[in-house]
Amino acid sequence: MIEIKNMSAYYGRVQSLHSVSLSLDSGRIYAVLGANGAGKTTLLRSILGLVQATGTVRLLGEDISSLPAFQRSQRGIAIVPEGRRLFSDFTVEENLRIGTINRNDFSQIETDIEELCEIFPILKKRFHQPSRNLSGGEGQMLALSRALLSNPKLLLLDEPSVGLMPIAVSSIFKMVEQICRKKKLTVLLVEQNAKKALQISDYAAILEQGTLTFEGDVALLQSDERLKAAYLGGH
Ligand SMILES: Nc1ncnc2c1ncn2[C@@H]1O[C@H](COP(=O)(O)OP(=O)(O)OP(=O)(O)O)[C@@H](O)[C@H]1O
Ligand SMILES: [Mg+2]
Repeated sequence: MIEIKNMSAYYGRVQSLHSVSLSLDSGRIYAVLGANGAGKTTLLRSILGLVQATGTVRLLGEDISSLPAFQRSQRGIAIVPEGRRLFSDFTVEENLRIGTINRNDFSQIETDIEELCEIFPILKKRFHQPSRNLSGGEGQMLALSRALLSNPKLLLLDEPSVGLMPIAVSSIFKMVEQICRKKKLTVLLVEQNAKKALQISDYAAILEQGTLTFEGDVALLQSDERLKAAYLGGH
């Protein structure tokens, strides 16, 4: 579905990703784990074309490596960035509609918005209020909904659990899993909360200093004592 080959990324002369190759199947969730500064955000930004990078990205067979970010997003890559980046003066509704900007199936858009408001009732309750009034967890629900409204094929999530209570993390993760399975969406989930992330993931990838040091089944990761100790606290 998506094929990343030999991707290297640079901030000026500093190289932050070293020839990362990763192949993602549709309808699957991939957890990306790694220490602070390992290159997780850089990997997501490189896939979207927001960082100076070399290597190839293929989406459904098409080489999109030379396309600018907005064209990659038009082709079905959406991101929920670190820190959410909502338009805080815009209402919840306006934020949601930003997600639909590349769509013209207008009646389906309304159905999709209604469906998300059922999943996350707080969005309906605050529909006409500025998004700055939302709490952290509510803002995360809005950011996720906005990304889903673009009907992505690939959803990039950058630490969706940051600042959330465990119960909010569980409900957001459950939602991601349900939507992914239902819509055959591919998800790349960057998380500090490795245990929670792995509960919903099919595969895991580990980045260490910009290099991919593990890629495989979640069960395989969980059976490796060294990796378990490093990323799952040894339990
Ligand atoms: N805009 C930037 N300019 C220069 N260097 C950067 C920039 N953004 C990131 N880096 C560097 O690239 C490396 C990877 O950063 P990245 O943000 O991808 O890490 P991360 O794995 O997402 O970390 P965290 O868990 O803290 O979010 C780090 O060494 C970081 O200092
Ligand atoms: Mg990061």
